[in-house]
Amino acid sequence: MRIDDPRVASALTELGVEVQPGASLAEKTSLGIGGTTDLLRITRHETIPDLLNRLERYGIAHKFLGGGSNLLVADGELPFVVLQLAQPEPDVVIQGNFAIVDAAADLGRMVTLCAKHNLGGLEGLIGVPGTVGGALRMNAGAYGTQVGSYVREVKVYREATRSLETLRGEQICFEYRHTSFAPDDMMLAVKLELPSRPYQEILQGIRLCNEKRRASQPLGQKSAGCIFKNPPGGSTGRMIDQLGLKGHSFGDARVSDRHANFFVNAGKASAADMLELMADVRGRIQQAYGVTLENEVVVWNA
Ligand code: EPU
Repeated sequence: MRIDDPRVASALTELGVEVQPGASLAEKTSLGIGGTTDLLRITRHETIPDLLNRLERYGIAHKFLGGGSNLLVADGELPFVVLQLAQPEPDVVIQGNFAIVDAAADLGRMVTLCAKHNLGGLEGLIGVPGTVGGALRMNAGAYGTQVGSYVREVKVYREATRSLETLRGEQICFEYRHTSFAPDDMMLAVKLELPSRPYQEILQGIRLCNEKRRASQPLGQKSAGCIFKNPPGGSTGRMIDQLGLKGHSFGDARVSDRHANFFVNAGKASAADMLELMADVRGRIQQAYGVTLENEVVVWNA
């Protein structure tokens, strides 16, 4: 979707929004898949309610983009614009055992920066790609760590009230790869409370998680991490593997040879290829195990 109305363009400039016309979302997502649209980068949180009111008034649909690491975007010209937070400087502020982090901050960088201040607990998240905002929304987790365990406050834009709100940790429900945030809530910043630990000890934990991840996941390839959630008590990767589906493909969308719940873009995969592969594998799992797989990846259909 292109913003070609000069009234809208000047309103966006007034609000400090930077417009990247015709941005390719394939370049903004770790899967390397996705069509084109105008990308609007927000430089000041306070302008968000005004911005969204104006977009609505002009009939411009929108979606929020985080780090693009858990996202499958449709092909072609997209029927919505994409909003993304610009990264402030600094994006992480440490106060005692608290880390106050902007949602646009890179998750891995935040983990290492906290470690340097002797704040641990987040070691398992090292190597999880994406932004802190995306990790919060999905309650990202790995190797026994879930980001939700450390959340004390979240600053959010709520579409329901059309205002910026600060929620306390206990007002938010964090479950396996799920939170009580509404789909149109936009994460803006978070306050984490982290346990004090010596830097060297945290570093040791980080190294261990990095090694485990390198040994079991296709890190050098374009993917969105695990494509499906695990069913309660089960392992999606193991089930897909047991059906002999490693290497199974539609076009350049392929089940990873290393971890069967990672679907990789091995070249020029389209969203249609990836969706076909997902539907096919989901059907086979349903038939073989009677289990209905739920997407972990977020899908933006056109
Ligand atoms: N397995 C296989 N074949 C495979 C993949 C896995 O047999 O191709 C087996 C493993 O040997 C193991 C079991 O399945 O016995 C579980 O595998 P793994 O330890 O890799 O964990 P997972 O449940 O597949 C989850 C998260 C990952 C996270 C790892 C490590 C989900 C959907 N996935 O994977 O998160 O990195 O644990 O904590 O919860 C992600 O969210 O994108 C993601 C990659």
